[in-house]
Amino acid sequence: MRTKVVAGNWKMNNDINSSVTLINEIKKGLNQKNINVKVIICPPFTSLETAYALIKETPIKLGAQNMYFEKSGAFTGEISPLMLKSVGCEYVILGHSERRTIFMESNQLINKKIKAAISNGLNPIFCIGETLEEREAGKTFNVVETQIREGLANLSEQELSNLIIAYEPVWAIGTGRNATPEQAEEVHKFIRDLIANLYSKEFAEKLIIQYGGSVKPENSKDLMSQPDIDGALVGGACLNAESFIKIIESAQ
Ligand code: PGA
Repeated sequence: MRTKVVAGNWKMNNDINSSVTLINEIKKGLNQKNINVKVIICPPFTSLETAYALIKETPIKLGAQNMYFEKSGAFTGEISPLMLKSVGCEYVILGHSERRTIFMESNQLINKKIKAAISNGLNPIFCIGETLEEREAGKTFNVVETQIREGLANLSEQELSNLIIAYEPVWAIGTGRNATPEQAEEVHKFIRDLIANLYSKEFAEKLIIQYGGSVKPENSKDLMSQPDIDGALVGGACLNAESFIKIIESAQ
């Protein structure tokens, strides 16, 4: 039985004051409940250190939204895995579709980032997913397979033991139009079978595969009740403590 994992991707939202307010609301809301779900919050870089101070005594875990693959050096504007570790991050989102489309990140670059994260003790939340054009052209499985093969190239099952995959169809992100539970499950099953072929059945059975793309309290339960959907990567709806908590509760 896989424990569900719900992660909040804050994207480029919340300054330090509103970060503190949101985290305190989430803490308060979760405090009264006995929930068997792993919760991760991924605030912007500028709020990470403060976020860690607020959550370190709680079961909530900290993640970043991106990083560069080098340890240090002349890479203006970038953040290294060691820097993320030093402020309390355990997770890092890599390959998000906004990184791929707006910042031109390739599968090869994402592969380097995943390797760097793992070798520095950070657990990657590796995002994959097709665009609407690709879905309509019947290419969903091809796209997802290429992203996995290239993104995870030259990484062993052992190295990937703490990997989380987030299937996020690009057409569902921030659009209010989520994949139906059946559409999502079809791809999640495909991903798990592919991982079983590339690695082993045991590893595939343990792998957490989150769904992301317009997850909200109204659809989260149906999505996460699917056999191969092990949680959610939540964007817009995680910026409100009440809706984020409802999504977490629905993962039970
Ligand atoms: P959304 O974003 O929930 O706002 O669609 C999800 C994501 O981009 O991770």
